[in-house]
Amino acid sequence: MGIDRASIEQALAAAGCISPADEADVLLAAAGDDCESLAAMLARRIDGEPLPWITGSIVFCGLTVRVAPGVYVPRWQTEPLARLAASLVPPTGVAVDLCTGAGAVAMVLAATSPDARVVATDVDPLAVACARSNGVDAYQGVLDEPLRSALKAAVDVLTAVPPYVPTSELRFLPRDVREREPAAALDGGADGTEVLAEIVRRSPRWLRPGGRLVLELGGEQASALEPVLRTAGFDAPDLLRDPEDDPRGIVARLAQPA
Ligand SMILES: C[S@@+](CC[C@H](N)C(=O)[O-])C[C@H]1O[C@@H](n2cnc3c(N)ncnc32)[C@H](O)[C@@H]1O
Repeated sequence: MGIDRASIEQALAAAGCISPADEADVLLAAAGDDCESLAAMLARRIDGEPLPWITGSIVFCGLTVRVAPGVYVPRWQTEPLARLAASLVPPTGVAVDLCTGAGAVAMVLAATSPDARVVATDVDPLAVACARSNGVDAYQGVLDEPLRSALKAAVDVLTAVPPYVPTSELRFLPRDVREREPAAALDGGADGTEVLAEIVRRSPRWLRPGGRLVLELGGEQASALEPVLRTAGFDAPDLLRDPEDDPRGIVARLAQPA
């Protein structure tokens, strides 16, 4: 016997899902007419598994991104940053996406500038395999370490959505995120800026003069990064804010030689 839509929504709401109606739609669409698989998917979701791990994908900036179980789920909150970064890549330019995860940001860069060269890296082999399954030219290793030296001083735009949650604030994340998504994708160290600052320090060797560094961050992290950016040779960054006016990212331009 099938499960009716109202019961699915009710079960999702009772499990604490924030958008039970939307999630019910996604599960019903993914299961098609297969009642057994619908019941199995619903059980996984109620157990706290992220929805895209169950259905296999998520839509990000209009693109279908495969998300393998164990890989960080791209957030809709990152979409404006991805679109902005994509608008900065010249048609035949070069872009690098560090900490690419499933490759969502790199996919937007490549889809916006099909003739540009887009390279991505991630430390997690599972993420790299997932990004490759999404057509991303992805390499495994710490931050910029897998990049070929031919890219030195050749990159127009370097993006990263690194781990930036302060360690002490990880416990405030929703239970599903805390218990299911990889801690290494979230934990940014004491004040959350450890990986961000390392990216700032490493990026001048890859960016061409005038090239842009586009980073997602939160809270007061932009101010904390300003001295690091200055020392690394960047102009004062532009702050990106979300619709609630909270800081969400920065765009910093590598200074041109005088
Ligand atoms: C917050 S997730 C973002 C993933 C993707 N950019 C997105 O927006 O969906 C951070 C990613 O950084 C990767 N990561 C964490 N530390 C890293 C490091 N030191 N070097 C390279 N990748 C790292 C994690 O494996 C994870 O995939």
